[in-house]
Amino acid sequence: MNFLDAEYVQGFMRMANDGWEQGWHERNGGNLSYRVKTEEVELVKENFVAKEWQAIGATVPDLAGEFFLVTGSGKYFRNVIIKPEDSICMLEVDQTGEKYRIVWGLVNGGRPTSELPSHLMNHEVKKKATDGKYRVIYHAHTTNVIALTFVLPLKDEVFTRELWEMATECPVVFPAGIGMVPWMVPGGCEIAIATSKLMKAYDVAIWAHHGMFAAGEDFDLTFGLMHTVEKSAEILVKMLSMQPTKLQTITPDDFRDLARDFNVTLPEKFLYTK
Ligand code: 13P
Ligand code: ZN
Repeated sequence: MNFLDAEYVQGFMRMANDGWEQGWHERNGGNLSYRVKTEEVELVKENFVAKEWQAIGATVPDLAGEFFLVTGSGKYFRNVIIKPEDSICMLEVDQTGEKYRIVWGLVNGGRPTSELPSHLMNHEVKKKATDGKYRVIYHAHTTNVIALTFVLPLKDEVFTRELWEMATECPVVFPAGIGMVPWMVPGGCEIAIATSKLMKAYDVAIWAHHGMFAAGEDFDLTFGLMHTVEKSAEILVKMLSMQPTKLQTITPDDFRDLARDFNVTLPEKFLYTK
């Protein structure tokens, strides 16, 4: 089968374009990765031409032998649907979990996203925590969330609670909450370690003054999660711009009622009295 005709490749490209249309991917901002199923690798294997092994810059032994579809470093989300073979690639992780090689894509050269350590370390954590169910890791430069990292304390409790309060669906969509990474140099192993630690507890991590990481089972759920958090941040930015105080809001007891009826567990650490 032609590589680009595979349904999951189409889904990957559509998601990248949806993110572009939201305005989250200026220039080469953001990156996306998908842990490909064995049968999906088989479908397109005839198109593979393996390049040399390269260092990942992190060790991910639990991903040994897995294949990933990822965006290229310096590539524009704008171009993913226009020239996919130049913008994205399929890569294979070696048996030690320390190296990767490109087997398709990036036809004009280049390498996978500079955030590959963060993507793969997050995949490793999520694969283990969800029994292999989670397959998508998404990094976007979401405007309103970034704006909030300049005015709210960079604490998991504060961001989770404030964003939960802005839209009733939020605690149902991200009941585990949101983790905060203070400003760090992007693109390396250190920020990958900090982010993947948070991914053990959460599906969303915010990088202060930079953007967001979201993890999920498939493209729709992961994009929907990113979209929901960013929409809530937009409401909060609007609210704070009108006046800094709320006349009324959703209370801790309201959240407890919601949790009961919607069958989700909301950790009490987020339901503190203000
Ligand atoms: P890449 O172009 O290397 O994916 O980097 C974009 C980015 O958002 C870095 O955090
Ligand atoms: Zn970024």
